[in-house]
Amino acid sequence: MNIHTYEKLWLGAAMVLIVFFIASVTYGAIGAGVAMVDDSEDTLDPDNLGEDDRFADPRVEQVGEDEYEVYVVARTFFFQPNPIEVPADSTVTFYVTSGDVIHSFSVVGTNANAMVIPGEVSTMTVEVGDPGEYGIVCNEYCGPGHHDMEGLLVVVPEDEFELEGDE
Ligand code: CUA
Repeated sequence: MNIHTYEKLWLGAAMVLIVFFIASVTYGAIGAGVAMVDDSEDTLDPDNLGEDDRFADPRVEQVGEDEYEVYVVARTFFFQPNPIEVPADSTVTFYVTSGDVIHSFSVVGTNANAMVIPGEVSTMTVEVGDPGEYGIVCNEYCGPGHHDMEGLLVVVPEDEFELEGDE
């Protein structure tokens, strides 16, 4: 059978493209530094957060001298706790989960921004600087109250910071 030279070239080009697309999709899924939703951890039951050690009582916890952990629950259409108070000049790790549908936890004007998925825990660590107030919004459409879903992150001066429940 005789195949025309141009036809051969186009066939070859199509093959190269197909291989390139497959390689690019594969890289997007498993390439270096590419992380999909973490599935190595057990999922939690969004209907029973009240029985979860971390999320039954959304809160700020001190874990080191200038290190804090914040456990946040997003629900239609609010965040708990609210406001979230952390001290200036500290390292804060947020653990965020959802009690119902997909939300997001986005600290306005910063790069702290994560999708919040029921059953999963989104984790982000941020270096907190000077005192100030930051809005927290939900960037994932989650229902009729989505546009009203907001919270507040308050960075208070170190000497004024008190953990809730402390005397
Ligand atoms: Cu929660 Cu949009």
